[in-house]
Amino acid sequence: MKKKMAVIGFGFMGVVHAKNILLNETLELCAIIDNRKNIFDGIEKTGNSGSLDLPVERLKQVPVYKSLEECVAKDKPDAVSICVPLFMHYELAKKALTLDLDVLLEKPFCPEIEQCQELIDLANEKNKILMVAHCIRFAPAWEFLADCIKDRRYGRLKLLSTTRMGGEPTWGVWQDEKIKKTCGGSLLDMLIHDIDFVNSCLGNSDDIKINLKSDEYWELCFGYNNDNTKVSIKGGFLHRHSVFASEYAATFECGSIRFNSLQPGVIHIGTDSGPELVNISGDLYSNELNYFSNCIESRKKPEKCMPHDSMKTIEICQKIRNSAPQ
Ligand SMILES: NC(=O)c1ccc[n+]([C@@H]2O[C@H](COP(=O)([O-])OP(=O)(O)OC[C@H]3O[C@@H](n4cnc5c(N)ncnc54)[C@H](O)[C@@H]3O)[C@@H](O)[C@H]2O)c1
Repeated sequence: MKKKMAVIGFGFMGVVHAKNILLNETLELCAIIDNRKNIFDGIEKTGNSGSLDLPVERLKQVPVYKSLEECVAKDKPDAVSICVPLFMHYELAKKALTLDLDVLLEKPFCPEIEQCQELIDLANEKNKILMVAHCIRFAPAWEFLADCIKDRRYGRLKLLSTTRMGGEPTWGVWQDEKIKKTCGGSLLDMLIHDIDFVNSCLGNSDDIKINLKSDEYWELCFGYNNDNTKVSIKGGFLHRHSVFASEYAATFECGSIRFNSLQPGVIHIGTDSGPELVNISGDLYSNELNYFSNCIESRKKPEKCMPHDSMKTIEICQKIRNSAPQ
């Protein structure tokens, strides 16, 4: 029997999760929970790349509730995908775990380390799956890079440079000045993706520096002295409506690999044998959802994206924020 999954928060990311649940063969989208009126208004303009070809008519047939309690009382789900603003992550994830539901929680985990730890403990106590949706871990181009770092097919990683930039968000909560202040700025909205990725591949950096900070633009340097590897993470918010792009360039002992999201589907490799192109396919958000659905089906912890790592990422972001020039 299909597992019943509800989406809480039907905004920019919620529509992507809802669409992918509809497409997943082992899940049933049993409910949408949002406290906003008229959640389908303007839906054709909502969502990021993952919301292309939204099955709007099918989504409109899904029961809509104003609260999780109401949804659980009427249509008990097995799991929820929580896609609400950061300041609501802790409260809603705690509520869902307390109600014995498995939880996929959008990144960033929670604003405070203590909140992250409490949710991890609660998930363990309740024997529930808790995964923070760090989608880059499921993006084919970044999985390729992670594999190259791990299996050293081009030798040891010497330098990794990533960039992630786009216009400051203009949708949903970002239109509310008070809530916007609780979102953690570009560090927790954008750079957290690269910080989490780097942390997952290279572990603890003993040397993190801020080379430049200008408003919501950051240039960070992570050093790994045990391996003599350097990582540069650059990015943040550009002027509203500027195009989004993420990019990496990685130099290993025997080759370099490059990717840019503006040219999706291809990774450029340069070695002594000459240039080479590797074609990649697959959508990060559906990969992420499929991985989570396998975890809830098999009752296996999300080894590829453990909540403890997501908490570590929050800890690193806090250290960076605290040492940033005001
Ligand atoms: N992984 C990614 O690529 C990515 C991209 C963008 C946003 N996000 C994350 O997704 C989350 C949501 O961001 P967004 O851009 O979709 O926000 P949004 O403002 O577009 O949507 C949030 C939705 O949550 C609803 N909501 C708020 N409080 C609620 C409550 N108590 N109960 C039910 N519904 C509630 C709002 O009405 C709104 O529809 C954030 O954590 C953000 O960091 C992730």
